[in-house]
Amino acid sequence: MAELSRRIAVIPGDGIGPEVIGEAVAVLETLDRLFSLGLQFEIFPWGAEHYLATGETLPEGAVERLQTEFGSILLGAMGDPRVPDMAHARDIVLGLRRRLDLFVNQRPIRLLDDRLGPLKGKGAEDIDFVILRENTEGCYVGCGGWFKRGTPDEVAIEESVNTRTGVERIIRYAFEMALAYGYGRVTMADKSNAIRFGHDLWYRVFQEVGADYPDVEMQHLYIDVLAAEVLRAPEQFEVIVTCNLFGDILADLAAQLMGGLGLAASANLHPTRVSLFEPVHGSAPKLAGQGFANPVAAILCVQLLLGHLGLLEQGILIERAVIAALREGVTTPDLGGSHTTTQVGNWIRERIEIEAAGGGAGSVGGEG
Ligand code: IPM
Ligand code: MN
Repeated sequence: MAELSRRIAVIPGDGIGPEVIGEAVAVLETLDRLFSLGLQFEIFPWGAEHYLATGETLPEGAVERLQTEFGSILLGAMGDPRVPDMAHARDIVLGLRRRLDLFVNQRPIRLLDDRLGPLKGKGAEDIDFVILRENTEGCYVGCGGWFKRGTPDEVAIEESVNTRTGVERIIRYAFEMALAYGYGRVTMADKSNAIRFGHDLWYRVFQEVGADYPDVEMQHLYIDVLAAEVLRAPEQFEVIVTCNLFGDILADLAAQLMGGLGLAASANLHPTRVSLFEPVHGSAPKLAGQGFANPVAAILCVQLLLGHLGLLEQGILIERAVIAALREGVTTPDLGGSHTTTQVGNWIRERIEIEAAGGGAGSVGGEG
């Protein structure tokens, strides 16, 4: 068996998931061949089809297997019109985040080509930051209930759970990331002016943890102000840390700054354990099967996955190849091109080979 960290669980999932994940896996295979990474893949069929056929979302023992036998998980998308309440998606996506304790949801926002940016006068040098979303608590814990459900007197209560441990570890991660990558500023967004208990905790913990990092500038913004500022002056942001729900909304908003969901990758991390990588876009059932889904978000997930394995230089090859594809107009229709999923994937892989054979290869060998 390959070294544990090099074992990758692949969950293609629903809709366009399998199409885009196929391209992402092919990129990993190319890099594996070029750099003898010793990668090993195992494909899991979990998703709507499996749920409808068997009634199970994640089979028994699945979480334990992922935990003990794999270094990372590559997931396509979950969601299918045949499961209107999204039960399997919640169980699988949110279930894995919680049960694997993947407390960091990292969503890089980076405009890779000026022409894709929607903001007047803002280019690639202005839009380059990372959103760190708390990924296990807040409004996502499923803590609450109904009273008099279905009657005119119905009451629905949804608790937001914020623990000191949970808040502290994501905020500390933000500062550690700033140090590791040379970011000068961490912005924390909450709503402590209105959400008085939970977000007061966020505010206090931010002040406490930030004091341990005197070289990193601290910025606190209410989430509504942050949403406006991200559009007005995105260049001020480097690392943004926020709670689960705000991070969910902010990440979709910010993905538009880089050209749309077709380009947005995410990592669900536990820094020292198995971690999960998934494009931010959903399963897009209407697009499924046509061959025109944008594979770039899934391919950029591979860069994040390689980063988790410490293979930063190989990740940069992917990024360079993607930037080249965008520049040359080798894109799917969502970005104005006319290429298919496979054509974009093939082009990017060929470009990776060229980059690796040229300037890229030396530095990879030297520093890897
Ligand atoms: C995301 C998705 C999920 C979330 C859904 C599918 C539950 O929107 O990964 O951002 O809200 O976290
Ligand atoms: Mn979302």
